[in-house]
Amino acid sequence: MKFKYKIGSALIGLIIVMVFLFFLVDTKEEEVYQAVAKTMPTHYNGEQFAGSQSCIPCHQNIYKTHINTPHFNTSAIAGEETLKGPFNNPSHKVELIDGVVQMVHEGDAYYQTISSKTSGELLDKSRLDIVFGSGVKGQSYLAFKDDFLIQLQASYFTLTDDFINSPGYPNYRFTRSVTDNCIKCHVTFAKNGDFKGNTNIYERESFIYGVDCERCHGPLQKHVDYRTGNLKQMGEDVVIKIDTLARQLKTDICVQCHSGLRAIQIKGNPFSFVIGERLDKYAKNYNFGRPEAQLDVHGNQYGLLKSSECYKNSSTMTCTTCHDPHQNQRGETKHFNSKCIECHVSPKELHEKSNLNLSDLNNCISCHMPLFPSQTMKVQLGNDTQETSVNIRTHLIGVYIDGILQNQKN
Ligand code: HEC
Ligand code: HEC
Ligand code: HEC
Ligand code: HEC
Ligand code: HEC
Ligand code: HEC
Ligand code: HEC
Repeated sequence: MKFKYKIGSALIGLIIVMVFLFFLVDTKEEEVYQAVAKTMPTHYNGEQFAGSQSCIPCHQNIYKTHINTPHFNTSAIAGEETLKGPFNNPSHKVELIDGVVQMVHEGDAYYQTISSKTSGELLDKSRLDIVFGSGVKGQSYLAFKDDFLIQLQASYFTLTDDFINSPGYPNYRFTRSVTDNCIKCHVTFAKNGDFKGNTNIYERESFIYGVDCERCHGPLQKHVDYRTGNLKQMGEDVVIKIDTLARQLKTDICVQCHSGLRAIQIKGNPFSFVIGERLDKYAKNYNFGRPEAQLDVHGNQYGLLKSSECYKNSSTMTCTTCHDPHQNQRGETKHFNSKCIECHVSPKELHEKSNLNLSDLNNCISCHMPLFPSQTMKVQLGNDTQETSVNIRTHLIGVYIDGILQNQKN
């Protein structure tokens, strides 16, 4: 008895010493990394993320407009402020061959339920953990099932203010495993269980939601430390000045998410690429031959733009020629018009053949970048045989007559 007691107290003593040592080590670490927010993950290249809130003291105006962009809001923890759609309304349901999907709100949580069509028995109830999409066109939902991340059956379709079977889903109960190849364009960062990004197991604390500052500018804790004077050995600022980059490198920032699914990963995983590097060393598309065939919600704005005369005949055009990456500019026709006129300085002369007046010309994009119906985001309403689709703006700039591109007509 006595002997056992001695071992016990020795053990307790040892534990106390170890705990003490642990705190000693831990506080030392605190000193070194004082400016590092503990919750921010580290990028695969070893650089630490700072989070967009840490940019506020010095880039306040950019931050203020950025948080209103579809980019910033393209993913979030699911909740009252981030979810759209008629939850708790039984008339809004998705009918499948083998079940009925309903979306409900209970307390703080939102759920998707699937019940048997014949017996009414509850077959599945999943909590909505993450929402994808700012809601311009729609929203999809992700859920953690144990440790596995999956996409739920239903999505929200903004155009009809209703729930639909998720784009690409079959007409029966289905769950899609969510890997880096799904989340790569909708979050700033997330650490997968496997370095290639092929599993659907994630470190939950590693998620940085939305397309935030550091997805485009790279992880910038060192920049924050440097500018705040926290970095002991002052060297060069690590931040990359975009206007010093070659055109392709500038464009690659946007191309990583706006050039189709880019599903062939050559190096690292989809989150490995950072600004300043060549994207073609990291990932490429399966070659479908026709970029215009990839016009869709998950379309290839880059491929289309690259095939346009404007892009081919200009040495400076990039995505930011027309888009301010820090602003929500949807529907700002005047702004986009003024961009066309910066290069096409006398529109009247260009339209002598069709005899269009200047007053007819004040919406260049309506004729030269027309809208086309999406092939994936569409739904059949009631008994209507016509499908209702989201419209997508083509980036193949050209002369269209009745939706047909003139210079490619055979
Ligand atoms: C303590 C102040 C401070 C903080 C915090 C800070 N920056 Fe900066 N940032 C600066 C200064 C100063 C410059 C240099 C401006 C210049 O040279 O014109 C700069 C430059 C930049 C540039 C390059 C601009 C260019 O000329 O191309 C980017 C991009 C940038 N910051 C992004 C960020 C992001 C993203 C964050 C948050 C993660 C952040 N900064 C946090 C002060 C700060
Ligand atoms: C990490 C992926 C990612 C990067 C990088 C990215 N985008 Fe996006 N972009 C998205 C996603 C996702 C959406 C859809 C947002 C939503 O509505 O949920 C989007 C939407 C847009 C929209 C439509 C906004 C609207 O009004 O609906 C424009 C324009 C756009 N991006 C331009 C750019 C430009 C320009 C760049 C480069 C400077 C860029 N994007 C970089 C993922 C990205
Ligand atoms: C290669 C990049 C990429 C991948 C991969 C991707 N998306 Fe997207 N997604 C986008 C872009 C870009 C847009 C906006 C396109 C536009 O406005 O034309 C978008 C739009 C959406 C929208 C509509 C957003 C809105 O606010 O209207 C939803 C919902 C969505 N994606 C869900 C998903 C889901 C779920 C997956 C994974 C299965 C996925 N996306 C994979 C790039 C991507
Ligand atoms: C979608 C990608 C994207 C996101 C998100 C983004 N930026 Fe930028 N940022 C760019 C690009 C591209 C440029 C270069 C602009 C140009 O070429 O006109 C730029 C330029 C800048 C500059 C220098 C030029 C200027 O306007 O002062 C700063 C500073 C900056 N960004 C900070 C930020 C901060 C802070 C955030 C988040 C609050 C942020 N950016 C979010 C893409 C992005
Ligand atoms: C950076 C300069 C630049 C910008 C901005 C620009 N373009 Fe162009 N665009 C060109 C050049 C260069 C050509 C080649 C023919 C020429 O020299 O006029 C061209 C060609 C065209 C053509 C003829 C296409 C064909 O297939 O023959 C149309 C139509 C056009 N642009 C419309 C637009 C519209 C609409 C906008 C605004 C959304 C726009 N452009 C913005 C530079 C530009
Ligand atoms: C010549 C001008 C111009 C250039 C260059 C340009 N865009 Fe756009 N983009 C537009 C216009 C105009 C719209 C429609 C805006 C609206 O409807 O409010 C648009 C819309 C978009 C949308 C939303 C599409 C939709 O239908 O909802 C995305 C995404 C986008 N652009 C991405 C890009 C990317 C990525 C690049 C570079 C590869 C790029 N754009 C280059 C003019 C341009
Ligand atoms: C109502 C539709 C419409 C609008 C709006 C419109 N265009 Fe056009 N555009 C055309 C047509 C059709 C042509 C073919 C030439 C013609 O018929 O005169 C054309 C031709 C052009 C061309 C020359 C193409 C070539 O063959 O070289 C350019 C560049 C161009 N437009 C730019 C613009 C710009 C910039 C604006 C806005 C200020 C604009 N367009 C507004 C219909 C339009």
